[in-house]
Amino acid sequence: MISIAVLGYGTVGSGVVKVIETNQEKIDKKAGLPIRVKYVLDLRDFPGDPIQDKIVHDYNVILNDPEVKIVVEVMGGLKPAYEFTRAALEAGKSVCTSNKELVAEHGSELLALAREKNVNYLFEASCGGGIPVIRPINSSLTAEDIDEVSGILNGTTNYILTEMTEKGSAFEDVLKEAQDLGYAERNPEADVEGYDACRKIAILSSLAFGKTVRYEDIYTEGITKITPSDISFAKKFDMSIKLLASGHKVTEDGKEDKYYAMVAPFMIRRGHPLFNVNGVFNAVFIHGNMLGDSMFYGSGAGSLPTASAVVGDVIDAVRHISRTLFVFWDPEKLELSDHKTAMRPFFIRVPLDKKDEAMRLFNASDAVTCEEVPGEAAMLTSIMSEEEFEKKFNEAGYVLSRIRINQ
Ligand code: HSE
Repeated sequence: MISIAVLGYGTVGSGVVKVIETNQEKIDKKAGLPIRVKYVLDLRDFPGDPIQDKIVHDYNVILNDPEVKIVVEVMGGLKPAYEFTRAALEAGKSVCTSNKELVAEHGSELLALAREKNVNYLFEASCGGGIPVIRPINSSLTAEDIDEVSGILNGTTNYILTEMTEKGSAFEDVLKEAQDLGYAERNPEADVEGYDACRKIAILSSLAFGKTVRYEDIYTEGITKITPSDISFAKKFDMSIKLLASGHKVTEDGKEDKYYAMVAPFMIRRGHPLFNVNGVFNAVFIHGNMLGDSMFYGSGAGSLPTASAVVGDVIDAVRHISRTLFVFWDPEKLELSDHKTAMRPFFIRVPLDKKDEAMRLFNASDAVTCEEVPGEAAMLTSIMSEEEFEKKFNEAGYVLSRIRINQ
């Protein structure tokens, strides 16, 4: 039998207990050994909950119990999760986590420590909730030279943008509704400002490109400035607006590869696999030089989908007890190119009387108007660098809104 300890009995922690209970027979068969939750660490007590007998408040009880071979860290945040994870790995216990903040901040270091101690640090649930994406990158796609990993990695913002698109509502109204329904956090900053997606794409880009992409280096914009007018015009262009998190490699003959990473709202053309990813769903798009396009789609958040990915990692850790799974993530920092050098077209909205001037300045071939937004025109610019666009944007002084276009 393998005993495990769950750190944190919140949304994901209670999901982990539920997944193990519900699918116990199958999980034990697949792991090859019975898996049992021996302890749950939480500051709180849960009287009346069957888990109460397993609640401990002192982490040392878990650390000092040699029967506990796997620690499930689902506390979130850096403190005390970082110290607890290090201590578990030092003690020769594998750690499975959904904690994207911690993986983005200390992933390569914790992987190295796990390797040194012959155990595993697994974090499938840190990106895309229940969607399998980290394990495919680490195993199924190892023959690929991956040049793009991008995706819709935040369910809250995708829900808000979808509702705005379907109902024509304003950002603030949908956010409030989402909070009332429990879909969005009371403090929604990490989601709506793109910080959550930024951590996730830092992890995925590090795994795809093999070196550490620091989340602080990733240019990040959230969705708070997207308006119903942007959405009405996006529909005119047959595009959808999504908060896209992306990592790219640009290869040019005779030059060193350049790497870019960004989180920002993008307009996506119909026909792109991400166009139709709606509601709380997440999707990760990966392009490899042999494979071409592939996409992983599913429930990117929520107690049971996330817990399912954590428990999948627990099973993997049981199957590989005393053997570290190889993860291609070097501690060396990957230098990202300045996002201002990235080339792309942009969508802009301008006052109707500035239409011709804007078309000339931004080299736009076509402009449209829209019944829902009287007095305005919108256009797609030619492909230009972010820097050139910014210069023109400042020179014009009348552009009402701008959104990047995914190519
Ligand atoms: N707040 C996150 C989301 C939860 O909305 O996607 C999963 O990380």
